[in-house]
Amino acid sequence: MASFWHDVSLIVLVLLLIGVSNSKASHSQLDVNHKKPIQTFRPYNIAHRGSNGELPEETAAAYLRAIEEGADFIETDILASKDGHLICFHDVTLDATTNVANHTEFADRKRTYEVQGENVTGWFIVDFTLKELKSLRVKQRLSFRDQRYNGKYQIITFEEYILIALYADRIVGIYPEIKNPIFINQHVKWSGGKNFEDKFVEMLLKYGYKGEYMSENWLKQPLFIQSFAPTSLIYISNMTNSPKLFLIDDTTIPTQDTNQSYYEITSNSYLTFIRNYVIGIGPWKDTIVPPNPKDNCLGQPTDLVARAHALNLQVHPYTFRNENQYLHFDFHQDPYSEYEYWLNEIGVDGLFTDFTGSLHKYQQWTTPYQKEKNPEALLREIANMLKNDGY
Ligand SMILES: *[C@@H]1O[C@H](CO)[C@@H](O)[C@H](O)[C@H]1NC(C)=O
Ligand SMILES: *[C@@H]1O[C@H](CO)[C@@H](O)[C@H](O)[C@H]1NC(C)=O
Ligand SMILES: *[C@@H]1O[C@H](CO)[C@@H](O)[C@H](O)[C@H]1NC(C)=O
Ligand SMILES: *[C@@H]1O[C@H](CO)[C@@H](O)[C@H](O)[C@H]1NC(C)=O
Repeated sequence: MASFWHDVSLIVLVLLLIGVSNSKASHSQLDVNHKKPIQTFRPYNIAHRGSNGELPEETAAAYLRAIEEGADFIETDILASKDGHLICFHDVTLDATTNVANHTEFADRKRTYEVQGENVTGWFIVDFTLKELKSLRVKQRLSFRDQRYNGKYQIITFEEYILIALYADRIVGIYPEIKNPIFINQHVKWSGGKNFEDKFVEMLLKYGYKGEYMSENWLKQPLFIQSFAPTSLIYISNMTNSPKLFLIDDTTIPTQDTNQSYYEITSNSYLTFIRNYVIGIGPWKDTIVPPNPKDNCLGQPTDLVARAHALNLQVHPYTFRNENQYLHFDFHQDPYSEYEYWLNEIGVDGLFTDFTGSLHKYQQWTTPYQKEKNPEALLREIANMLKNDGY
């Protein structure tokens, strides 16, 4: 298995290199008109950092596995290198998920910086060039997950991630996060006075990502932009009309940019305001249905989903994980029971999962793809076909 995935990642790398060196031509080769469309009739399966329950997070291998397992969207966190390249990585430090500690040439690169009001010590992404980051290898974050792939895969760029989605043999959406924008804009500078958010949107536009939710363009290249920072979402709102989603942290954590409390940003008046900029919210699931810390059983659901839906906002909670230590006891140690509860009782519109394959199987058993063609989709295909034949 290990060598199989290694080979797959090499093939992808070759495809990526062809794509990057000849990006105009590759666009027509992508031919989205003949790909299986993204499903839009049931809640979205969002592959959190790829299939990171199985493979080291945010690597090409984790994204390929997620696509193979049925993800509607592959999810990623965007940060920036010292030389201004946008890269896919979750933490601002490299310590937890790479082998940076074993690279003696970087021993003197350790720093302490303030990140969201806390002093953090480690090897910071913003102190490494892309070339240096590419010399590292990614490892599994959690000790109880499969360690066999540690040291095999590189960190990938935002551009490589986009190409992985575009080269999939069916339409697969992307779901990138503008991660730690305050910190990134403090530490990384771009020419022409551009900031992190400008570079982020530029990359999406370069690859043709545009259009409102469910528009023809969106269906060809589905995208949700996510951020915990409302200022970034508002800032980019007149640069791109792609759908945006406002992430909401735990009840104890204020927003990193506007220092607003959980209670303030989940109030009806704030949701009514932010609805001008976003089509949905992404809360941590334990704030929607708070568990009892004493017995690990679910308490009463809050009214957040109902209030968001009343304002026509989608709700995509995070993060669903199969392992026992993450499953509340109500679910009988069965991740399918948890999906059943969130999909049928709470009624959410998408789920961030570490195990895309499990969610996909559950959804295929309970709400399979329609066998009949949807008439509108068929007419769209016919229209595209006629257009391509020069009529
Ligand atoms: C990396 O360093 C750690 C200690 O910092 C050590 O335990 C580990 O064996 C090293 N790994 C490799 C591949 O050298
Ligand atoms: C971080 O460390 C610096 C230098 O020691 C100190 O001045 C600052 O108050 C610390 N910040 C926090 C949030 O602890
Ligand atoms: C976005 O709007 C702001 C103020 O509303 C304006 O200053 C800025 O130039 C606009 N940007 C674009 C790309 O239209
Ligand atoms: C954020 O808000 C809290 C509560 O109002 C306040 O105590 C804290 O000083 C604020 N932090 C900053 C950095 O403004």
